[in-house]
Amino acid sequence: MKIKKGIILAGGTGSRLYPLTIATNKQLLPIYDKPAIYYPLATLMLAGIQDILFISTPRDLPILQILFGDGSSLGMNFSYQVQHKPGGLPEAFIVGEKFINTEPVAMILGDNFFHAHGLPEILSRAVQSCTGAGIFTHRVEDPSQYGVVVVDKNDTILEIEEKPKNFKSNLAITGLYYFDETVCERAKKLFPSERNELEIVDLLKSYLLEDKLSMSLLGRGTVWFDVGTPRALLDASNYVQVVQDRQGIAIASPEEVAWRMNFISKDPLEKLVNGLPKGRYKQYLHGLVEL
Ligand code: G1P
Repeated sequence: MKIKKGIILAGGTGSRLYPLTIATNKQLLPIYDKPAIYYPLATLMLAGIQDILFISTPRDLPILQILFGDGSSLGMNFSYQVQHKPGGLPEAFIVGEKFINTEPVAMILGDNFFHAHGLPEILSRAVQSCTGAGIFTHRVEDPSQYGVVVVDKNDTILEIEEKPKNFKSNLAITGLYYFDETVCERAKKLFPSERNELEIVDLLKSYLLEDKLSMSLLGRGTVWFDVGTPRALLDASNYVQVVQDRQGIAIASPEEVAWRMNFISKDPLEKLVNGLPKGRYKQYLHGLVEL
């Protein structure tokens, strides 16, 4: 499978982050020195995806448009679509049907943070081996707040469950998914769960039933956070601060990623950098232009 399109789902009420989210969207809260949504954006860009749809609430979508614009200065194509009320993650494929246009698509949740050496290779290997839907799993101590997958000795998926109280495995399903061109039709056939939402696990199960769900295990060299709580926001911020300051690099700078992925050449990068306000971020990117 080849994936050229991606969706960033940036809606939700952010209730676990209240009162931080009274007046703003959780995806705009900082992970150290950048809005949280920069990190999933960088992940999709590292997967080679340049055509991206942002889905958010009527209140927050205009702010995302201010933040990202049409993406052309990054060699990207950004579009935007409102989700009127939170109806579950698979609703992205109903709201985004026109954008998807019966093509394979990646989806990442706007509060998911990934950092790993060789992430582009991991992401492209997963897409090549995916025939229906693809999930990325990661071992966590307490997976009860996540989708959980149970596998056999050969990593064949036996079962998936959403937020089980008594979990049968420590493998959490992260908020990054690949789907084939049938995803919109499948999403439209789902029924709301007890909490009156369409459930991502039900969508994944429709692929599992046909033996078309593949899994890539993100190993222990990978860092994954879902910044849905104040503690996770702080943990992710501390992680970014330590790694960036120690190594003198930036994690998830869209300008840098666009350049490293060859979406833009040095001249447009230089133009972008010159337009930034004075400060550390500009100084860092300026250093790249001088390389
Ligand atoms: C969602 C999914 C869950 C997944 C998690 C990853 O949960 O429903 O399966 O493990 O994202 O971030 P949420 O964080 O929206 O409750």
